[in-house]
Amino acid sequence: SIHTYNCFLFLSVFVPAAQPITSKLDAGWWAYKDVVQGTFVPVPSFWGLVHSAWNLCAIGKRQSPIDIETSHMIFDPYLTPLRLNTGGRKMGGTMYNTGRHVSLRPDKAHLVNISGGPLGYSYRLEEVRLHFGSEDSQGSEHLLNGQGFPGEVQLIHYNQDLYANYTEAAKSPNGIAVVSIFIKLSENSNAFLNRMLNRDTITRINYKHDAFLLMGLNIADLYPDTTRYITYEGSITIPPCYETSTWILINKPVYVTQMQMHSLRLLSQNEPYKIFLSMSDNTRPTQPLLQRCIRTNINFSKQGRDCPNNRALRPQYRVAQWRMKSKKFYISA
Ligand SMILES: *[C@@H]1O[C@H](CO)[C@@H](O)[C@H](O)[C@H]1NC(C)=O
Ligand SMILES: *[C@@H]1O[C@H](CO)[C@@H](O)[C@H](O)[C@H]1NC(C)=O
Ligand SMILES: *[C@@H]1O[C@H](CO)[C@@H](O)[C@H](O)[C@H]1NC(C)=O
Repeated sequence: SIHTYNCFLFLSVFVPAAQPITSKLDAGWWAYKDVVQGTFVPVPSFWGLVHSAWNLCAIGKRQSPIDIETSHMIFDPYLTPLRLNTGGRKMGGTMYNTGRHVSLRPDKAHLVNISGGPLGYSYRLEEVRLHFGSEDSQGSEHLLNGQGFPGEVQLIHYNQDLYANYTEAAKSPNGIAVVSIFIKLSENSNAFLNRMLNRDTITRINYKHDAFLLMGLNIADLYPDTTRYITYEGSITIPPCYETSTWILINKPVYVTQMQMHSLRLLSQNEPYKIFLSMSDNTRPTQPLLQRCIRTNINFSKQGRDCPNNRALRPQYRVAQWRMKSKKFYISA
C-alpha cells in the first residue's frame, strides 16, 4: 500500500540522519493521520522518530493521553477543589483554525488563571483547544474504561509563577496544567461552546489560518457544575510531547448539539485552494500508564478501605458493565 511504501521510504531516508534539524523537519511537520498520498508526514507513531528533539513522543514514560481505568483510580482526600479566577470579568479571544484544531486564545488583556486542586502554582489560560471525531464513538484524546467520547475540550494553562510565557513553561518542570472536559451530544449545548460553535461563528473558520474574534466570553460557563475531577501527571499531546503537564479531567461532560458536531466535522485541515480534508479525528492514541497514579477527589471508598482497586466506585461517568460490549455510556448524574 501507499502507506507502507511511504514508511519504508521514510525509514530508509530520514532516520539515519535524524539528529540535525533539516528544513523539512521543522516544528510544524507532523500530522494525526496520513494526509496526502505520495508525501510522507509523520503520524503519531512516527512523531518520536523523525526529530531527536521529539524523542519523548517515542520513549517517554509519562505520556498523554491515557485510558482512564476507573478501577485503578485512587481516592485522595487531600485534593481540594480547583479554583478558577477570572477577576469577575468576561474575556475576548480569537478563534483559529490551525489546520489541526479549533483553538481559542484569550487576548492578553484578560487574565484567567487556575490554582488549587493538585496544582502548587497559579496557571494562566493560554488556549482552549477542541478535539473531535468523525463518528460519535471517537474524538476524545482520553478514554474512560476504553471508551471514547465525541470530543474533548482542553483548557491549556502555563505556570505563570515560574515562567514568562507558554513556550518556556511547556519545556520546564511543573510548566503546564490542562483542564480536560469530555464532550457529549445533546439537544442543548454548553453556553460557552455555543458561542464558538453556532453556525454563524464556526463557518468563519472553515479553512486553515482562518481566525475570528469573539468578545464577552465567560470561561466559567465552560466548566460543568462539579468539583469532582481525576488527575495525573502526563505530557502535552502534540510534538515535542514534553512531560510537563498536570492533567485535570473534570468528572462531568459538556454538551454540544449534533448540528454543532457536524459543523466541526466540516472544517478543513487545509487552505481553501487545497483539497478538503476534515479536521476530525485530531487525536493522539492513548499511551501506557506505566508507574503513574491516577488520583481523584471522587470519594468512592467505603469507610475504612483505601484499596486502589476498590471497585465500589461512583464516578459520574459510570460504565454499565452489562453494556460494555455495545459501547454505550450513561451518566449517573
Ligand atoms: C489570577 O487572576 C486574577 C483575576 O484576573 C488576578 O487578579 C490575579 O492576580 C491572578 N493571579 C496571579 C498569580 O496572577
Ligand atoms: C518567552 O520567555 C523567554 C524567557 O523570558 C524569552 O526568551 C522568549 O523570547 C519568550 N518567548 C515568547 C514567544 O514570548
Ligand atoms: C469518604 O466516604 C466515606 C464513606 O461514605 C466517609 O466515611 C469518609 O469520611 C469520606 N472521606 C472523605 C475524606 O470525605
